[in-house]
Amino acid sequence: MKDILSLIELGRESFERVIAESALLKARRKAGIQEDCCRGKTLGMYFEKPSLRTRVSLETAMNSLGGSAVCLEADSPNRFWARESVRDQARVMSRFVDFVAMRTFSHAVIEEFSRESSVPIINVLSDHSHPTQVIADFLTFGEYCGKLEGKTLAYFGDGNNVARSLLAAAALTGVRLVWSGPPGYRLEPSYVGTVRKVAGKIDFVEEPDPFKAVARADVIYTDVWASMGQEADAARREKEFMPYQVNGRLLAAAPGEAVVMHCLPAHRGSEITDEVLDGGRSAVYDQAENRMHVYRGIFSLLSQ
Ligand code: CP
Ligand code: NVA
Repeated sequence: MKDILSLIELGRESFERVIAESALLKARRKAGIQEDCCRGKTLGMYFEKPSLRTRVSLETAMNSLGGSAVCLEADSPNRFWARESVRDQARVMSRFVDFVAMRTFSHAVIEEFSRESSVPIINVLSDHSHPTQVIADFLTFGEYCGKLEGKTLAYFGDGNNVARSLLAAAALTGVRLVWSGPPGYRLEPSYVGTVRKVAGKIDFVEEPDPFKAVARADVIYTDVWASMGQEADAARREKEFMPYQVNGRLLAAAPGEAVVMHCLPAHRGSEITDEVLDGGRSAVYDQAENRMHVYRGIFSLLSQ
């Protein structure tokens, strides 16, 4: 394993290794055991978009393993790449740091950086996908529901970066993914086809009726209706997505043991209501905590 650009490229074996290492390091941390596998190592971070969880969990993970982190934040999306080519930055950064984590608008930038870099590159959200989020989601899924194969994750909303990574993770683990949202926001059939081809098979269902979609869910998942960069479209989306809101009525139609996940940040009252986010079936804050455990797992494996 060198880079983590997407879960499909990561593959089943590495996906499982990251989950297992993250779970192991989580247990060791809870037992008070200090790690130092990244002593003397540095993480470089590029953030073209805002972040709370990713930015802080990357740095705290690296610090907790004995390493350090340096962050470049853009005040405008193009500032990084207008000043100097991606190619030159990748080659220079590789001389300074041991890993690079990148949050960009364009996935192509991360791919180009990875081609030119001699150190591992981690996609920490692009317009295409959010793989490290979903590794943490599936660690959480397993903690709540046990063996993943044969389980159902019902996703409500936009066929966006998070949804693409969820589909890939579902295909790698034998989970059924049920997608429910407005027809104009489906996961692209070409992407679904690629996942099917690479994973061998997928169990993917599109169900326009949210109440049917939730009927057999083990996990109910939602994300913002307008992702970062789509703010101008937010009002239109708000109307189109409202039938797919994760609220008390939808939760009441789900199996009693189903839990709710959201990658955060949440728009309370839009894609998810207060009663659900703050309720007893919300796994959302455990899910957020697991972001850090997964980065610890990733850095540990990349240091071996
Ligand atoms: N879920 C997630 O990536 O959160 P941030 O945007 O705060 O990093
Ligand atoms: N789909 C969201 C995820 C945020 C973590 C976005 O890209 O803004």
